[in-house]
Amino acid sequence: MSEEFVREPKGIQEFWGECLLKGQATKPRQKLVKECTGIYKNEAALQEHGDDLAYWVINQNFHREDYVKGTLQWGITYMNPFNVDGECAMTSGHYHGDSDCDEYYYTLKGEGYLLFWDGKDDFYAEKMYRGSLHYINGHYAHRIINTGDDVLAVAACSLPSSKQDHEAIKEHGFPYRCYKRDGKIVWEKQ
Ligand SMILES: [Fe+2]
Repeated sequence: MSEEFVREPKGIQEFWGECLLKGQATKPRQKLVKECTGIYKNEAALQEHGDDLAYWVINQNFHREDYVKGTLQWGITYMNPFNVDGECAMTSGHYHGDSDCDEYYYTLKGEGYLLFWDGKDDFYAEKMYRGSLHYINGHYAHRIINTGDDVLAVAACSLPSSKQDHEAIKEHGFPYRCYKRDGKIVWEKQ
């Protein structure tokens, strides 16, 4: 038997502490609050956050440049708790350009909601909390909202070939916005 038959895993996904992802073929990226344009109702309020970080992402992809239809990637979004004029912190959200491509989200820490919209009359929000598992049908736009006081860390298993489409969201938004007022969650029609 070869010496390399038993090996270390290609990555470690912590489900403790900061829930960091470490390992081969990983790449980080980040976004500042003031860069989150076209998402929040009060765009001017973004500037009140200076150079605060909105969220950062670590992603493992062994075929970043040469992926094919079935290539999988694993990524974590770490979303800071903040609000923009009362509106809870969120990702821009996206559709899948290739709606045949489904996805899974899994909450590692924190609390919030996962917003779904089929672009027509079906929209809903699934509660997110440590351990919550979210099947995402590729026909639904999806967006993460952090409603807690801690980082919301969400793991995603997805297909790079899904072709994330953020532009349609920037143009039409989601049917509902999520605010936190006096400690209570309030949903307002777009
Ligand atoms: Fe997605």
